[in-house]
Amino acid sequence: MFNQKVVEKELRTYHRKGPNKTTRILLDQLVSFIDDQNSLLDIGGGIGAISHELSQKGLSKLMNVDASKAYLDVAQSEAERLGYRDKASFYYGDFVTLAPEIPSADVVTLDRVLCCYDDMSALVTKSIDRTNEYYGIVYPRTSWWVRLGFSGINLFQRIKGSSYRSFVHDPKVIHAIIHSHNFKRIFRAIKGIWVIEIFRRDLSKD
Ligand SMILES: C[S@@+](CC[C@H](N)C(=O)[O-])C[C@H]1O[C@@H](n2cnc3c(N)ncnc32)[C@H](O)[C@@H]1O
Repeated sequence: MFNQKVVEKELRTYHRKGPNKTTRILLDQLVSFIDDQNSLLDIGGGIGAISHELSQKGLSKLMNVDASKAYLDVAQSEAERLGYRDKASFYYGDFVTLAPEIPSADVVTLDRVLCCYDDMSALVTKSIDRTNEYYGIVYPRTSWWVRLGFSGINLFQRIKGSSYRSFVHDPKVIHAIIHSHNFKRIFRAIKGIWVIEIFRRDLSKD
């Protein structure tokens, strides 16, 4: 699904226009909360837009995990080009499997990633476990027309012979896991088919 051609096209778009709209909304909010001592773990970061943008804010450590080698290689080359490779780490593989060897971070993001992964409960549980303070997610709304669109994408992938599937997960389940880890929501926005949310650890409950 995320092959070299798709990845290179996305990188060209990023160079021309910057991060896409939902990523921009997530970033604008995160920037207002975090400081330059914070570390980032971006799971399924694609070309690495969140890391590239937050590296400009001087974050101390930027970690990227991606199950796509094509995406991860591009994110790494961009980190070199932008001059922050020494602060960055890149992990190739499924985060759910890699989680025990990935350090925790002050800010953890999953931007349009939950919808690419079947076992959402494991992905949310293991990623919130790695979050010190802020947890940012972008995921699809559950409206019938969004579900219909995702079914269409899956049918198209099946016909193409691809094993890729996209998922519209239940936000109640996502929220139940996050809240059970003592995080409370501090931001929510809707843009097109996407919900953008940020949660903060509720220190009063720790
Ligand atoms: C739709 S792309 C989104 C990329 C980027 N975050 C963005 O919003 O432009 C989904 C990304 O998540 C990655 N991904 C999905 N599930 C993953 C998992 N369990 N572990 C690591 N990466 C994952 C895919 O490889 C892909 O790079």
